[in-house]
Amino acid sequence: MSDIGFLNGRFMPLEQAMIPVEDRGFQFGDGVYEVLRTYRGVPYQLEAHLARLERSAQAIGLSMPYRVPEWREFVKEGIRLGGHDESKVYIQVTRGVAPRDHAFPAAASSTVVMTIRAMKPLSQVLRETGVGVIMMEDLRWGRCDIKSVNLLPNVMAKQRAQEAGAFEAIFVRDGLVTEGAVSNVMVVRGGVLATAPEGERILSGVTRSVVLALARQEGVTVQEQAVSLEELRRADEVFLTGTTVEILAVVRLGGAPIGTGRPGELTGLLSARFRASLG
Ligand code: PDD
Repeated sequence: MSDIGFLNGRFMPLEQAMIPVEDRGFQFGDGVYEVLRTYRGVPYQLEAHLARLERSAQAIGLSMPYRVPEWREFVKEGIRLGGHDESKVYIQVTRGVAPRDHAFPAAASSTVVMTIRAMKPLSQVLRETGVGVIMMEDLRWGRCDIKSVNLLPNVMAKQRAQEAGAFEAIFVRDGLVTEGAVSNVMVVRGGVLATAPEGERILSGVTRSVVLALARQEGVTVQEQAVSLEELRRADEVFLTGTTVEILAVVRLGGAPIGTGRPGELTGLLSARFRASLG
């Protein structure tokens, strides 16, 4: 088992993968990315992640060096080479190496990086007890639907959460909950599941779509409507969704309990359905 790097079509030990200083991803955050994982060694929702990568690249006028079938093969090959029980695959495409100038370079070919590492599951204790979150003003730009490598607001928010002894920071913009620093946020009130709608204010999470479909299958009313901070505070249940968190109960907001202060019933049901759907 080893951590694998991939750079512009070549696999190598991760520590040998190096990027030139003038890569625009490094200097401007001029690039897009994806994070995906395996279950039983099979990349989960690979097509959805690759489709989102293409959408993100297109939205910033970044040309993609590979088509979906090639990506698919590279991802699978990386997972095979890594040989981990479960893998976490990071893919990043930047606008390439060029002398530093804000406008796009006339001639630069995109840089493609992948890392394949062991996927470490979240602690079982966190899964069982749920986590605390803090609230942060959403200071990000107006295109949060693009999975850009510009993550400074998310980095600051997650750091603030960690310093506060919380797991995640939830962003609020104009009084409405958008999403977490690394996850989408779902709120249960009176048996209705609400979450911010797709659009430019959130990342359209792959896990979000899976969980909403599972909820609808269970006959749960789903409202893709932004929830206010007040509604979040008074929710019966809150949970996060995302590739790394899967479905994770939120039981404290800024130190105050949410609902009973324990993971809720619908959160538990959807977690069980999610697990079952993984085969
Ligand atoms: N983050 N919202 C934001 C801002 C995210 O960064 C992520 C994922 C999600 C959940 O999306 P998905 O279900 O497709 O993973 C929502 C990844 C895991 C990361 O940046 O590490």
